[in-house]
Amino acid sequence: MLQNAARAIDMNLHLHSQTDPRRHEQDGPLVITGGQGVYVYDDTGKRYIEGMAGLWTASLGFNDARLAAAANDQFAKLANYHTFNHRSNDACIDLMDQLAMISPLAPCKIFLANSGSEANDSMIKLVWYYQAARGKPEKRRIISRNGAFHGSTVMGAVLSGLPHMHRSFGMNTDDMLYARKPHHYREALPGESEEAFADRLIQELEAMILDAGADTIAAMIAEPVMGAGGVIVPPKTYFPKLSRLLSKHDILLLSDEVVCGFGRTANWFGCQTFGFQPDMFSVAKGLSSGYLPIAAVVVSDKLYQAIADEAQRNGVFGHGFTYSGHPVTSAVAAETLRIYREMDVVSRARSLGERLQADLHEALGDHPMVGEIRTAGLVAGVELVADRASKEGFPAEARVGARVERACRAHGIILRNMGDVLALCPPFVIEPDEISTVVRALAQAVQDVRAELAR
Ligand SMILES: Cc1ncc(COP(=O)(O)O)c(C=O)c1O
Repeated sequence: MLQNAARAIDMNLHLHSQTDPRRHEQDGPLVITGGQGVYVYDDTGKRYIEGMAGLWTASLGFNDARLAAAANDQFAKLANYHTFNHRSNDACIDLMDQLAMISPLAPCKIFLANSGSEANDSMIKLVWYYQAARGKPEKRRIISRNGAFHGSTVMGAVLSGLPHMHRSFGMNTDDMLYARKPHHYREALPGESEEAFADRLIQELEAMILDAGADTIAAMIAEPVMGAGGVIVPPKTYFPKLSRLLSKHDILLLSDEVVCGFGRTANWFGCQTFGFQPDMFSVAKGLSSGYLPIAAVVVSDKLYQAIADEAQRNGVFGHGFTYSGHPVTSAVAAETLRIYREMDVVSRARSLGERLQADLHEALGDHPMVGEIRTAGLVAGVELVADRASKEGFPAEARVGARVERACRAHGIILRNMGDVLALCPPFVIEPDEISTVVRALAQAVQDVRAELAR
């Protein structure tokens, strides 16, 4: 199809996810037509390094042959089956085995879903089921955090602490409490150390719990590093303190590992990097390197035992999706986990992450438009500011982050801006010199926009 005709169809018909529709009617899509390793190609043939691994997903790049073979083989063998009513299939069993091998919860049970949102919805339903099972159905409220992103289904959006996810949808947040995000750069008091800031956050959270009544609160959900909220890396002691506080008040801790899982923070899971043991955690994205839609919830034995007893009393566990444990998505995910182990993804993320951090600080550490560089393993955020000394940001209407993102594309890299924060989350198959290429292009893009603003 002719390039312009294809774009026109997209502009006419496609209501895009997380996009300004009116702007799309004017600007149209970036159409990606091919992928090779860490590179993607648009419909004009222009090549980019995908510095965001798509949407924090394509950890193994964009055309891994083993994943294609795993999908093809499974399609040929058994292309559909389900997991309701005691049914299983060998691909899904293989995936269980692979995932349990690296799970920080052991023993555990694994529930399969199709997206991060579904996995997080499922975690909340499991929490409510568990609290009912132990005779505490009044424990229903969920604590999340301002700036959190947990998905776009009704529950995913309610869990998210981002105003644009609630605005005009009339979301019912009656059962929610939103705590302050652990972002030292923006939320600390003048002169407050990271440690003192973490202490203050915990005190604030305890006051919130006591005010609402711990006996009304079921769980807290948290991403170890807040991704879409701006790549917020918490102070070192935040999660261990948070975890102690929640167990003191009999509140479960749920880790959303949708971005942080599978090596991203240079451990298998973000909870390991930040020193806490959740009661349950969700994974998606990297589980299949984003090649097919699949997600999972990993449940601790303590929760499972209560849930299983309750389900037996009810006659059945009344939850699950048609495509939970789908053989083809499961086969691709199982193969993905095998590849991660063979390539030692954790060590690779650690060494590439060190390179990314060093390059970012060298290229942008002293730049007048860069307020903060945040990194954890192979994920980073660069926050742009109008004034470094006062930390004052740019006016939203200047769309500085979006302009830098566009300039990045002109320099052959794709990143993502969340407001004026540029996120970097490259595939693990990126090479060290390609990381430097990405960082150089970003620095050039920031410089271009600075020159534009000066004009
Ligand atoms: C931390 C986190 N949780 C949940 C989700 C939702 O995942 P999905 O879009 O697969 O429903 C996302 C998506 O970006 C995410 O970043």
